[in-house]
Amino acid sequence: MVVIGATGGAAEDLAAEMLAVGLFKGQAPEGLGDAAAKVVSSGDFTGKEGETALLYGQDGLGAARLLLVGLGERERFDLERLRRASATAAKRARTLKLRDAAFSLPLVRGAGVREAAQAAAEGASLGLYHFDRHKSGVERHELETFQLVSDEKDLGQTIEGAEVGQKAAWGASLARDLANEPSNVATPEYLAQKAREIAQRHGMEVTVLDRSGIDEEGLTGLATVGRSAANEPRFIVLEHRKGGDAAPVVLVGKAVTFDSGGISIKPSAGMENMKFDMSGGAAVLGAMKAVGDLDLPLNVVALLPATENLPGGDAFKPGDVLTMHSGKTVEIVTTDAEGRLILADALSYARRYEPSAVVDCATLTGACHVALGDYASGLMGNDEDLISELRTAGEATGERSWPLPLFDEYTEQIRGDVADIKNSGGRYGGALTAGAFLKEFADYPWAHLDIAGTAYGKKGNAYTPKGATGAPARLLVEFLRGRTR
Ligand code: BES
Ligand code: MN
Ligand code: ZN
Repeated sequence: MVVIGATGGAAEDLAAEMLAVGLFKGQAPEGLGDAAAKVVSSGDFTGKEGETALLYGQDGLGAARLLLVGLGERERFDLERLRRASATAAKRARTLKLRDAAFSLPLVRGAGVREAAQAAAEGASLGLYHFDRHKSGVERHELETFQLVSDEKDLGQTIEGAEVGQKAAWGASLARDLANEPSNVATPEYLAQKAREIAQRHGMEVTVLDRSGIDEEGLTGLATVGRSAANEPRFIVLEHRKGGDAAPVVLVGKAVTFDSGGISIKPSAGMENMKFDMSGGAAVLGAMKAVGDLDLPLNVVALLPATENLPGGDAFKPGDVLTMHSGKTVEIVTTDAEGRLILADALSYARRYEPSAVVDCATLTGACHVALGDYASGLMGNDEDLISELRTAGEATGERSWPLPLFDEYTEQIRGDVADIKNSGGRYGGALTAGAFLKEFADYPWAHLDIAGTAYGKKGNAYTPKGATGAPARLLVEFLRGRTR
């Protein structure tokens, strides 16, 4: 795992195997030697986003190699583009099989040096992420250190940002690892074991309910969805208590380790992606790891209802009626709307903490993916301040979310025929009726992130390979950091 460091002083003087310097479109390099001046003046390097030029043995440069990295238009440069540029530099250093590299930290308009350093650290650390533990014969060279270079006067902020960015990236990397694991590895018990490891490492409390504990607690939604699964369900509770007697923030993560749809079975094409249906839980565990690493002075409780959703002789069926943990009754329209059933129980379980806020994240609806595409999570809730905090945290981390409405009419749409409510409101407004369903179980400031479109992808970007993105682990960490101020 790469170590992100910080150094103050002139980047040109730094002795490193490679120094990466970002250049805006049309920007002439200064003090970087002749070849750098020529590669720009010749027009061979234009500063376009993602463009690179590698130069050797520059006069007056301390580094053996100079990598120019295009930053694009100066006016459009932001923290997200910085993450990508930093990832591009770190990945090139790894391709060159170097042990260390340095990156001259560019300034970002409208952001401080601390924020820039955090973004650059996240970009480098996450850019180097790979998931090849199930591939034979892959010997990957690892970059050991990546130094962010800033003016001496900014060193303090650079160190601070590098540390936060590194720790947030570790959390997001854990989230990626858990989500990328196939469902025969990442079972509910496997997630419970990861929670125990985090608890052990960071002095947190952990409680894991097995099938009988889930029954005794009356978590009917979780017990019912998990009934036919050979890999037994777990209800995982992880508590970080560093906030004195302040009311806790509760994070809830959907952890369906495989969603076949159950009796309302899904089409087989693309069903393999339903191993990612525990991405909400993975992000919550990743965020908790970062909460521990950053030792945030808060009380934070993580709740993960974890189960498979499979058909079987013992499986729940369309038409069944469940009496949920809260006492509300739910009519099953489709066994494929399982996420809201297990989340509803976790939300009513959360009441005992008298929480200051509850945030759930879940790969809940294909409809949300259709509505917002790959680039924003759906954001719903019952508290405008909480919604705006989460939006801000998403903006800052590049894990963007966008508000969707929870009008009373959506609640009307899920009114039950034989029970209080039903678990599907039909085709139209699918993300919103799912949100309206959850709202029935939340009687505290609550927000819901539908991450069906953002938790994994087949394209990725400079700092995200295809597969799990780790979102919204960094969003959650930033949101919680905001609550320490
Ligand atoms: N896990 C799925 C949602 C999902 C679908 C996530 C595609 C990522 C990609 C969820 O459990 C589900 O099946 N939702 C149904 C709800 C419907 C049956 C009311 C859906 O979105 O189709
Ligand atoms: Mn489903
Ligand atoms: Zn699901």
